[in-house]
Order: sequence, then C-alpha cells, then structure tokens
Amino acid sequence: MFIKLTLNQNELEWEIQPHQTLLDVLRNKHILSVKNGGCKNGECGSCAVLIDGKPVNACTILAAQVDGHQVDTIEGIGETLDQGWKKTQGLHPIQTAFIESGAIQCGYCTPAMVLAAKHLLEKNDSPTEEEVRDTLSGVLCRCTGYTKPVEAVLRAAAFLRGEIVPPIESDYQLPESLPIDLPDQPGDEPTAPYTNLTTKVIPKISIQQESKKKTTQVGKPSKKVDAQKLVQGKPAFVADFIGRDTLVAKVLFSPVAHATIKHIDVSKARALDGVAAVLTYQDIPRVVYSTAGQSHPIPGPLDAFSLDHKVRFVGDRVAFVAAETAEIAEQALKLIEVEYEELPAIIDMEDAMKPGAVQIHDEPEYVNFADSDPQKNLAAEIRIDIGDVEQGFKEADYILEGDYEVPKVQQAHIEPHVVLTYWDADDRMIIKTSTQVPFHVRRMLAPILQLPVRRIRVIKPRVGGGFGGKQEMLIEDVAAHLTIATGRPVFYEYSREDEFVSSRSRHPMRIHLKTGVKRDGTITANEMYALSDTGAYGCHALTVTGNTGHKGMALYVGEGKYRENPNIRFYADVVYTNTPPSGAYRGYGVPQGYWAVERQMEKIARALQLDSIEFRMKNAIRAGEMHPFSTAWSEGREPKPEIVHTVGLEECVNQGKAAIGWDQKYNNPDWHNIPDKPYLKRGIGIATVMQGTAIPYLDMGGASLKMNDDGSFNLLVGATDLGTGSDTVLAQMAAEVLGVEVEDVIVYSSDTDFTPFDVGAYASSTTYISGAAVIRAADKVARRIAERAVNMLKEKNPALEITPEEIDLYEKKAIAPDGSFVTLEEVALNALHHTDQEQIMGVGSFVSESSPPPFAAQFAEVVVDIVTGQVRVEKLVMAVDSGVIVNPITASGQVEGGMVQALGYAVSEEMVYDQHGIAREKDFVDYHIFRADEMPELETIFIQTYEPTHPFGLKAVAEIPLDGVAPAVGNAILDACGANVDSNPATPERVWRALQSKSDASNTRI
Ligand code: FES
Ligand code: FES
Repeated sequence: MFIKLTLNQNELEWEIQPHQTLLDVLRNKHILSVKNGGCKNGECGSCAVLIDGKPVNACTILAAQVDGHQVDTIEGIGETLDQGWKKTQGLHPIQTAFIESGAIQCGYCTPAMVLAAKHLLEKNDSPTEEEVRDTLSGVLCRCTGYTKPVEAVLRAAAFLRGEIVPPIESDYQLPESLPIDLPDQPGDEPTAPYTNLTTKVIPKISIQQESKKKTTQVGKPSKKVDAQKLVQGKPAFVADFIGRDTLVAKVLFSPVAHATIKHIDVSKARALDGVAAVLTYQDIPRVVYSTAGQSHPIPGPLDAFSLDHKVRFVGDRVAFVAAETAEIAEQALKLIEVEYEELPAIIDMEDAMKPGAVQIHDEPEYVNFADSDPQKNLAAEIRIDIGDVEQGFKEADYILEGDYEVPKVQQAHIEPHVVLTYWDADDRMIIKTSTQVPFHVRRMLAPILQLPVRRIRVIKPRVGGGFGGKQEMLIEDVAAHLTIATGRPVFYEYSREDEFVSSRSRHPMRIHLKTGVKRDGTITANEMYALSDTGAYGCHALTVTGNTGHKGMALYVGEGKYRENPNIRFYADVVYTNTPPSGAYRGYGVPQGYWAVERQMEKIARALQLDSIEFRMKNAIRAGEMHPFSTAWSEGREPKPEIVHTVGLEECVNQGKAAIGWDQKYNNPDWHNIPDKPYLKRGIGIATVMQGTAIPYLDMGGASLKMNDDGSFNLLVGATDLGTGSDTVLAQMAAEVLGVEVEDVIVYSSDTDFTPFDVGAYASSTTYISGAAVIRAADKVARRIAERAVNMLKEKNPALEITPEEIDLYEKKAIAPDGSFVTLEEVALNALHHTDQEQIMGVGSFVSESSPPPFAAQFAEVVVDIVTGQVRVEKLVMAVDSGVIVNPITASGQVEGGMVQALGYAVSEEMVYDQHGIAREKDFVDYHIFRADEMPELETIFIQTYEPTHPFGLKAVAEIPLDGVAPAVGNAILDACGANVDSNPATPERVWRALQSKSDASNTRI
C-alpha cells in the first residue's frame, strides 16, 4: 500500500506493507535517529517521534496510521553550525542545552528525549521541574539518572524565553587552595540563577590534598567529544550501519531448563523461502570456550559452546537462523522440530551442592580453572584467610552473625546487544559490535570460527550502554557463524525479552557474616561466606564473587593491633544452576558484599549502642595501610602487596553528613515523625564503601597519537567508551600534556585493526589505565615537538641557549622561557613538509602495579509507610573520593546514573524464576527501572585526593556508585521503623513482613 506523509517538512509518498510498524519503516528508510530499544511495545520510549507535534512511540503504531500526518524526527531539527563554506542555523537550543549540561551519556535515548522536550517547550516555555520530569518520564534512560537531562530542558526553556543563560562553566569553580568553604547546612547551596532548578549539574568539589601542578584541561567540565553527533541522532550505533543484502539472524532458545537434544529436524525451516541458513550443533565445530570478556588466560572455566546437544537453561541456544527478513527468520524458528530429553533441573542455588544433585556440566571438553569442579556443580571455590580469624573471635566481647540475600538483577542498557558481521573484500571477517571488549572478542572468536586472529577485525562504534553486560562475547559468534555459512552480511540484535531470558546479569548470592567486636567497638575478626549463583555457565564466576570479599571485606580492618594484622576470612562457593548465566555488572560483585557488610555494621552499632558513623570510621582502613587482600588474592593470579595511598573517606563522611543534614535528623524524633500522618516514618541511613581501580599487573591500555598539519592530533585508543565519556577525558589528558584544547584532539575508539590494544571498559580502569597510556603517548609527542621547537627557535635566533626540557607547551604554542615561541601548526608543517621530515607521533602503554581504591560515603533518606511497607526514597547523597576529577560533568553523570541503578537494586529490581526455570520478568513492565518522574533528589560531592600512582592523581569513579545505595536505604528503613530487611530489594512485601516480625526482625545473633 502507499501512504503520504510529511516527514521533517518534506512531503513524501512511501510504499509500505500494511503490517509494518512506523519504527520498522522509518529505520528501513534510514531515519536512524529513531532507536529500537528492543521492547517494541511502547515501554522504553527510545523510538519516540512527533506525530502532528505530539510524542508517540513509533513501535506502537502502524506506518499506515501516519498516512496524511506530519512526522518529525530529530533529523529535521538543527544542524552542525559550521559545515565548511555553508553556514547553518546551528543546533536547536534544546540540543545545545543537552550538550552543555552533560545530558548525553551513551546517547541512545537522547533523540527521543530531545523530541519530548521540544513538545513540552512549544506549549509551555516556563515548565516546572515536575513538568519536565513528567514529560521525560516516557523515555527510559539507564545512564544519566535524569538529573542532567532535566537541567538541560530547563536551561533550554530559559534560552527560548530569551533569558541570558550563563555557560555551565560559570557554575563551576575549582577551588585553588585548601581549605574551601562548603555549606554546613542543607539548603545553603546557591541555586542556579535562571530557573527554579533543584537539580545540580556541577557537583561540589572539595580538595583534600593539593595536586602537584595546575592544569588547564584536566578538571574542566569539557563537553563530550561525541555529543554533537549523538544529539543529532546521526548514524553512530551498530544498527545504523546495516547495508543492503544483509540477512537477519534469529536464535531458537530452549523452552526447558535442562535437557539433551534427542532429535532436531530443521528441514522445514531450511526449505522456507527467504531462509539462507539454519545451523545446529551438528553444523559447526565443537569448540569449548568461556563467554567472559577477560584477559588471557580467562580466569574461569571453559564450559560453553556456540551450539550444543545439551541445553542448560530456559533461553539457552538451540539453533541459529539467517533469513532475508526478521519475519521470515521468526517463521523459520517455528518450523524447527526439537525433541528434548528433559533432565532434573537445579533452580535454587542451595540445591546445586546437595548430594546426588544432577551434574550440569558433564561434557568431556570442560576445562577447569583454579578450583572449579563440574562434578560438584562448582564453577569456582574461593578460600581466603587473612590473619587468625578464630583467635580474633576468641578475643571478641561479642560475636554477631547475620544472613543476607541479594537478587539477580540486570544491566538493562537501552541499546540491546547488537552485532553486524560480514566478509570484506579481502575475506576478512568484520565484526561490528556493541561491545566493551573488542580485543577480547577478536581473540576469543578466532578458535570458535577457526580463523586466525589476523583475519578478524572487530569494530566498536558508539555503545548504547553496557554496564558490564557487554563485557561478554555473547552474540558475535551467532552472526559470524551465519556469515561463514552464507557468505553474506548478517545482522543480529536481541529483543528486550531476549535480554531478560538469554543475557547476563548480576550474581545473586546468599551471604553469612560473622563479626567479632570488642565492647569499645573494635572489630577483632570478620568472616564472610558467600554462596553465589553463576547460572548455567561460569562466566566471571570466580572474579565477580572474589571481588565480593576482596573489596567488600577490605574496608573494616579493625583498630590497634587488629589494624596492623587484621583477621579476615572470605570463603565462597560459586555454583551452577539451570538459570540464565550471571556475569559482569557494574560494581562486579562488590554491591553484593556491601549489602551484607553495611547492614551488619549498622546492626552492630545499634546493638552495642555505638555511634554508627564513629564505629565505622574507627575500624576503617586508613591511608598508608596495606590493602588486606593484596597479599591474599588477585583474581586467580599471583597476589602482590599493595599500599592504599589515598583515603578521603573521613571527609566524604563529613561533607555527606552536612549535605543531608545528618546531625539535624539522626536521633531526632521530631524529624522521624510526620505530623498528621502517623503511618509514615522518616529514616536516614549511611553506608561507607570502597572499590578498586583496574586489575593490577594485568589490565593494559594502549594509545597512539599523531600530529596533523594544523597542529591538531589524532588520538587512537583501544579503550571503549560506553557512554561514560571516556573518549572525552582521554582527550582532556592528551590536550593537557600537549597544551591544546580538547577540540584539537580527534579521538577514535576502537577498531582492532587501527587502535592499539586495550583490555576494554571494565573494572573501572579506563580513565586510570588507558589515561596513563594516553599521557605516555602524549609525553613522547610533546618531547618531539619540544626538540623541533628548539631547533626552529635557534634558527630564528642562533644566540638562544635553550634545551627541550625548558620548552612549555600551552595555548597551542611551544614557548621558550624568554617568551619566544613557535606555534604547533608551525612545528607540524616543519616536521611534515620542511626540515628533516618526519611524522611526529607517539605510542604509549600502561599497566598498573596498583589498584587504588576510591572511597565513598553514601547517604539515603526515606519515608516508610508502616501500614503497607511502601518505601519512598526522598534523597540520596554520595560523597566520593575518586582522586582528581578529570571532568566534573561526566564524572558526576556517572555517579548520578550509578546511584539510580543502585536505587533499583535497593527497592525495585529483581529477577525471579519459577520451579521450571521460567523467568517472571521479561520486559520493562515487570522489571521496573526508574523513570524521570520517580526520582529522589540526588546530590554528588567529590572529595578530591591526589593519588600518587597516576600522573594526574586520579582514581576510578564508574562503579563505586553501585555499592552503597542499597545498604544505605536498608539502614534508613531500619532507622525509620525498626524493620530489618536483610534481603533486597526492599519491596513493600519484604518491608511489611519485617515490620510484622519486628520483635525478632534482626537475624543478627549476639
Ligand atoms: S518503546 Fe519502541 S522500542 Fe521501546
Ligand atoms: S544516555 Fe540515556 S540511555 Fe544512555
């Protein structure tokens, strides 16, 4: 059928199929700003367009319905200002505000948010924050925590009203010396001048130790280097690069939790018109591997196959199909006949280790790592003893024990897993994929595809969020096998349901804690046992669960002689079950540990009538002390001693307390009660946490830097920007060394053919590890520029006595102490065209010998309905010591987004399976992630220490926001109403049950 529509002011006539959705038609017509969030059901809002000026999710209507209507997408709004000789009107003010406010992280939701904002501001140019939140609530964002998008819309509104909107930088002043004045009381903060805004784009920054030198680029709230293209919805993500002749892949997933495939018949599927290939385990090589994207050798068992004759969870792979269209591929899946011989299934982790339990991995190819033992359904076993725990317990006045449980939760990045594969003209396999680990993917795929590494090229375009979910070689092999089978390009993307049933998630755990304490609050021994569920495959089993202890149990070492020789035990069993595999998820095992540890600390403090914060600080690790686990465990590799040089925790606590008004609220009965509402109780809670920065002696980053004719630079990095802004902070570091602006550094990441090796984006390593590699590469380039500048200056003035060490690079010049200079452009032209010609370039690599921990104090304020058990989180404050902050906008965006993910862990998110292993949560209706209009107030404070192991003094910021929110909320619930919720999330049902059994609500035994 034909439809007529006006698309972005152009009148068009299109031939469409009556059953096609508007989303499918728009994307087929290369209107690529309209994003598929995988739900295709109106849940995520990433496909929103304006129809006759109103936002509508394009997946929820048929293309036929827009016949005669006006459709607007972001392609019709704004252009890059400067396009050579052609001048344009530039970006729309909303787009500009999104860039300036740092409202764009991965950018996958950005076009939909901008359109929604446009709709609002066209009818109301003075919206309240509530109205903005209401408008944005139709678009889910997993990255930002919505603070900065809300700020952006209010900022754009002010601009559209004709007000003078000061640059973001004017809100931001990094204090130059110690000490700085921060407000002691809540509410003292200045508000933005142009609006009634309560969100805060720029965090507070307190400098605890002065940095070694003044910087011009490091510490600046630079705009993201990729923001301009993302805010215009330009082709940037994998799905934007599908060419003609591309087949669509689909996978038949197992409907049963545990079975062998007795018989499989694909003849009918193969015979279907439009089907190019159907593959089963009988068609491809049987190569055992691990899907975990980690360094070589992978620290976990090899227990997976691309396709197998056995299925181990509902959602496991049975067959691959490639067809001309998605509809044909779906039809083909239905024609595959499979006879399963069902086996007993283990759904609950406790059952995995019971005598007589069915063995989930009995394949002869299984490769053990460390203490994995498939006969016992053990993917990993961890036994770490530090000091003498039994003696510590003997010396304690009290022994406190508690049981805690944490659920399986999902990363829920809005861009689903997605990959495009094809042979290039040289018969090399090109894998364009949304991955955190391009180099690991290339190495891991080679044996599976039976291609040498040199014949595989992995390209990572923009990634629409990962959060650990894409630290996995999850679907690349599917498309690549089908490209090998058909010789044609193959595109494969997960639906939202696929994400829930067949992806990776956070390890659920049951944790037992036993703590010995003296009467004065000194911890004498601390012991944790964790039973961790890796699901059907052991990807990240050892390392995630190891970090539960390695970081969760490292913070509290004790006082006095215990501080010198802490007594800590961490044992864990990581078991296989017939449920979807767990894997890497931002925080990497540490949020699980801190749920238990921080709930336990709160209960101990209350039981012994100690001040809860003083008790923590008394026992917390201090600067200059040895990381207690550093000599005991290192992700399955040889541990090496490591000193913790910088600890800003005490200042985090002080500043966080001031921001949330701790002293005015804690222990204040008036504050806890709400007048006329006796069923509502207020509470306040704290959790203190530490993380790590990269994996020492292992994580390696590389960078190369090349100078161009105009004095600009190409920075190539293997590091993987997932939307975190790492490309931007790496450019800032290069610009700092070279004395140029960020816009003079053109960053490209990542392509295994062109960019240097990097382990990828995980373990909070990019800014620290890849950043140090960039600095090394930039140092080499700077040195060469300085040498040339000396020669050029001496040529002009032969009497000049000068060495390269005396040359300073700043303001795009190489400047001698006497003020004479050559510009970098002159140096570049000299090098490339005039004298002793050479390409000035440098390569740098960096491996760290330490993993400096960031520290944080997380505060939560809640209101609990003691009749229904409903918890409303009103405010979250996080004060973080992440060393020097390279970019306060991107860094605070990380903290805000992380806190909101963690808020889901605290109160709403969990994945549950029935006795057959069938998932209850398969969409964003049953699995609720926070919307813009449901947010508590968020506040971020950076306590800036100077970490001596990094040239710019920085530590990680990306993961630590996940660690403390849930226990701080749990502790706030306890403070509000005396209910101990020891299993998160704190759903109304759990809180209500805890309230009913309040007399013995605490399972902590003294
Ligand atoms: S709302 Fe359309 S893809 Fe999610
Ligand atoms: S920036 Fe919103 S989903 Fe990533």
